[in-house]
Amino acid sequence: MRIAIASDHAATELKALLAEWLIDQGHQVADLGPDAGESVDYPDYGYKLAEVVAEGTVEFGVALCGTGLGISIAVNRNPACRCAVVSEQLSASFAREHNDANVIAMGARMIGTEQAKACLGTFLETQFAGDRHVRRVAKLGNPPTDPDHIETHQ
Ligand code: RB5
Repeated sequence: MRIAIASDHAATELKALLAEWLIDQGHQVADLGPDAGESVDYPDYGYKLAEVVAEGTVEFGVALCGTGLGISIAVNRNPACRCAVVSEQLSASFAREHNDANVIAMGARMIGTEQAKACLGTFLETQFAGDRHVRRVAKLGNPPTDPDHIETHQ
């Protein structure tokens, strides 16, 4: 698969390790930066990653910062992106199965490299379940303007 990866300064080491691991698994990886050693702002790299995912030149994005939180908030400001912060495999699996997440975010200060690889591997292997989730995921890309927008289903 084609995968883009980006981080802030807190996660450049994890970014390099995950990029290498993905290439070893046979994926094509676009490392959007930054290089180690520079202090940067996570929104800049979150927005950059989101643009690449939204263009459709990659299937998935990997967003990394100290906690995974800040960069995930930035990515999710792009309506084409569904970014889930995870620190364990069950969430990584449900992020794909129910939310059709196209970006995974993780925190380099929160989890170790092996756990990050396990979460990423699960994320990439898990298929979207479709069915009732299609309707819900479609709503994520189309926020309501009507205050009476709540639907119920049997
Ligand atoms: C950088 O120090 C840190 O704030 C950032 O990596 C991230 O954790 C923000 O959410």
